[in-house]
Amino acid sequence: MMKTNFLKNIIDKEYLLDTFDKYVIFSATDLKGEIVYSSDAFSRISRYTKEELLGKNHNIVRHKDMPDKLFKELWATIKSGKTWYGEIKNRKKDGDYYWVDAIIEPYYNDADEVIGYYAVRHNITDKKELESFKKDLEKVNEFLEDEIQNRIKDIVTLNKGIRETQKEIIFTMGTIGESRSKETGNHVKRVAEYSRLLAEYSGLDRYQTQLLQEASPMHDIGKVGIPDAILNKPGRHTADETKIMKTHTTLGFDMLKHSDKELLKIAATVAYEHHEKWDGSGYPRGLKGNEISIYARITAVADVFDALGSDRVYKKAWRDEDIFQMLEEQKGKHFDPLLVDIFLNNVEDFKKIRDRYKDV
Ligand SMILES: [Fe+2]
Ligand SMILES: [Fe+2]
Repeated sequence: MMKTNFLKNIIDKEYLLDTFDKYVIFSATDLKGEIVYSSDAFSRISRYTKEELLGKNHNIVRHKDMPDKLFKELWATIKSGKTWYGEIKNRKKDGDYYWVDAIIEPYYNDADEVIGYYAVRHNITDKKELESFKKDLEKVNEFLEDEIQNRIKDIVTLNKGIRETQKEIIFTMGTIGESRSKETGNHVKRVAEYSRLLAEYSGLDRYQTQLLQEASPMHDIGKVGIPDAILNKPGRHTADETKIMKTHTTLGFDMLKHSDKELLKIAATVAYEHHEKWDGSGYPRGLKGNEISIYARITAVADVFDALGSDRVYKKAWRDEDIFQMLEEQKGKHFDPLLVDIFLNNVEDFKKIRDRYKDV
């Protein structure tokens, strides 16, 4: 109350009307919607002069983006004597647009009859621009997210393809090494499977197990560098020939050691160390116990088990009992004792693999 009195005292009516005219986007129409009054502010924002506005229908500022439905609802509201509130996009004379927050209601003569409508509006163009900018930004974001997801999918598929190819090349390399010494492709397959199972049973994780399964077929890749006459000589090797034969470990290592891929690194280690023995009497470096990589220790058991069980140029296949007895005897000598125990305790599972990949 005090505030009102205060305002009344310092602001005269003229000044108040003047300010209203300048700053409030205001217009009044007759019952048909023809403009009978326009404030300076309305004229300024719509870019029409007052003269241009007067007598024109209010839809002179109607923008094509506004749906008919909105105006139908607006007219229905004010014709029923109620006030309509809403946001409207309007068209300027030059074709540009502006947004307003509007209040439109009927006005009355002294006899309480509706003689027209007036509208008070507030410029909300900035707010609307910001909203639409935000919406655009969200759309761009969604698009980018989709795009990223698709790219990731592509990369995953591509990676899978590369890994499959890698696996095949490695397996083929292993087969080449073995075929030079007249092994069958199934030897390589069986060694891979025995190694996988032994790795799994000895507690290696899934990733390591898989790496070993893929790397172990390459243990004899170095044999590609051994002269055929020595490699496939029937009967015993001379001391010199044995020496040359043993170089297939270092040859294999030298072939694979340059890669920075984990799989090939493991393959290099396995090629290098698969003839090392637990007690240090193996070759080429005479490593002992845990100095020998677990991958090579596993491959050694798998390789020997398979080699003894198959016919070779220089010998017939051993009987199972003899193989198991030899493994038992070589526990802690040739082989990691723990791995032999694990192997012998699960021997039926290994035999199943042997049956599955039988040589024909
Ligand atoms: Fe070998
Ligand atoms: Fe082998």
